[in-house]
Amino acid sequence: MAKFQVELKRVVDDSYEIEIGYGLIPVLINDIANGLAGKAHKFAVVTDTNVEPLYARPVLEALREKGYQADLFVFEAGEKSKTRETKAMIEDAMLAAGYQRDCCIIAVGGGVVTDLAGFVAGTYGRGVPFINYATTVLAAADASVGGKTAVDTPLATNLIGLFNQPEKVYLDLDTWKTLPQREICSGMAETIKHACMADEAFFSYLEEHLEEILRVEKMPCEHVAERNCQIKYHVVMQDERESGLREILNLGHTVGRAIETVSDYRLLHGEAVSIGLVAEAHLSRHLGFLSDEEVERMTALLRRAGLPVRIPDDIDREALVKKLYTDKKVRDGKLRFVVQSRIGGIQCFGNNIYATEVSEETARHILKEL
Ligand code: GLY
Repeated sequence: MAKFQVELKRVVDDSYEIEIGYGLIPVLINDIANGLAGKAHKFAVVTDTNVEPLYARPVLEALREKGYQADLFVFEAGEKSKTRETKAMIEDAMLAAGYQRDCCIIAVGGGVVTDLAGFVAGTYGRGVPFINYATTVLAAADASVGGKTAVDTPLATNLIGLFNQPEKVYLDLDTWKTLPQREICSGMAETIKHACMADEAFFSYLEEHLEEILRVEKMPCEHVAERNCQIKYHVVMQDERESGLREILNLGHTVGRAIETVSDYRLLHGEAVSIGLVAEAHLSRHLGFLSDEEVERMTALLRRAGLPVRIPDDIDREALVKKLYTDKKVRDGKLRFVVQSRIGGIQCFGNNIYATEVSEETARHILKEL
């Protein structure tokens, strides 16, 4: 009978600042007072049980002292909490506390917190602003920057989510001093990933300064935080929605995410990514891109960083092969992998194509070798 064209072209500016420093809570409060969260006057501080007493409560108290309405929404720490159920629990608690569209969410924590809170923010009241206050090396290196928000499902990690950019990201390096060593090592896996895919000089820097970084010494940690950010945001600025280039940030994650799920999250994200980086380096060598020496150099650095470099014996290799098919890079039922051309470089396979098809047989061979 009739046809109408609904014109809805949008020009969106989702730019935001990343601030790296020490003890940034006063800076956060000052930024809010200066309009960072727009008209929001009620703040939902989302955090986990580990971070609550250390940093989330101080954020809450600082907000209240400044006269803002604010509440804490706390869930059990750990990747196992990154679920639709936890998201619903936070949403229900916010609804019960009267939060409406004029609120802002502040994620205070590591990658699980920033991924989950950012996803809540993307759908709460059809979208409210959020701010990331990252308190782990892993969140600083990867999760808090780039706007990927998601929850895990029983099938695999990060399958349900949104691209949703924060208003600002704070990387508070003081928080690294209160992290357990295992968490620092886990964050180093994403750091080593960045070096492997983009910057050989950074890789050499990590080889030279690794022990100082693991002891959380000031200068090398500042360099790590800054270089991680630069490498990540350069990729995200070119391909926010992962239509090509952003796939390179998946290096080590095709196998890593599969291991994380099959291990039932016994391994931390970075630990699983470390094994994934080694497995995918073996694949790059198998495909003729990396040399034995380069694979050994990568494996040695990951091992020195206190990270696992072999698949634990009790992980069923066939279950892993099956799990690879839950990866978001799979096209037409075919496995696709990001491949390193060298330490500090990713192989390009054509115009904006950064992953290549790999047969199940080859993937199985690599996983069985490791
Ligand atoms: N963590 C991978 C990405 O942000 O694309």
